[in-house]
Amino acid sequence: MMKSILENRPALKAEIEKVAEVAGYLWQKGWAERNGGNITVNVTEYVDDEIRQMPAISEAYPIGTTVPALKGCYFYCKGTNRRMRDLARWPMENGSIVRILDDCASYVIIADNPVKPTSEIAAHLSMHNQMVEKGKGYKAAVHTHPIDLVAMTHNPKFLEKDVLTNLLWSMIPETRAFCPKGLGIVPYKMPSSVELADATIEQLEEYDVVMWEKHGVCAVGPDIMEAFDQVDVLSKAAQIYLTAKSMGFEPTGTTQEQMLELQRAFNL
Ligand code: 13P
Ligand code: ZN
Repeated sequence: MMKSILENRPALKAEIEKVAEVAGYLWQKGWAERNGGNITVNVTEYVDDEIRQMPAISEAYPIGTTVPALKGCYFYCKGTNRRMRDLARWPMENGSIVRILDDCASYVIIADNPVKPTSEIAAHLSMHNQMVEKGKGYKAAVHTHPIDLVAMTHNPKFLEKDVLTNLLWSMIPETRAFCPKGLGIVPYKMPSSVELADATIEQLEEYDVVMWEKHGVCAVGPDIMEAFDQVDVLSKAAQIYLTAKSMGFEPTGTTQEQMLELQRAFNL
């Protein structure tokens, strides 16, 4: 059997195991129909000389945009058309490790298998480029299709700046505490387009979570678990809103004063 890049690299292996764990959660949550959603992780810190010497196992693919801060960086990427529920069990059969080439506009696959990365690669690498440029220490990005949050983007009122943020914050104090920046909104764009990638990083200047109108959500974080947590917290708030609505009343929500009190107490 072919040797995996994860062999004898416990730190890299642990990172990929976190990806697999999160992929399982996305499926269990009902957010990952068929191949829906994608995950990428910047694994450059785990790369050694042997990995740097590894030959490409694919042609060079264009990213569609340029990512100057990612020259020579390495990423784990979910494969395009691959299922999260499969990735949960076999992350290296349903994703691959890629190396960004010196032109900062293309990449090659180096391990384990020539699984072509997600069609949202332009958005993902644009997000990572911004995270490196800003020195945020963020390493992970997730895009997924949460039913409740996507449904909310079908209401034009919720697409106005910070309307959804304030509504979701007011549903349960944890949302204010654990998603302190709230969420940005990207008006509908063609999936996998560079326009979608550009609009996403524009919103990420201000937020760590961005809604793609009538499509899904993107979140970034120090690792994939924390990126997932932000979406999970927001989805919980959306569930509370919609449970109250389905009981036939408009939820009152916590007051502005109560939220300000939280902001002070938690230093948000
Ligand atoms: P991929 O299978 O190419 O990752 O696409 C899934 C998706 O959610 C596109 O927005
Ligand atoms: Zn999608």
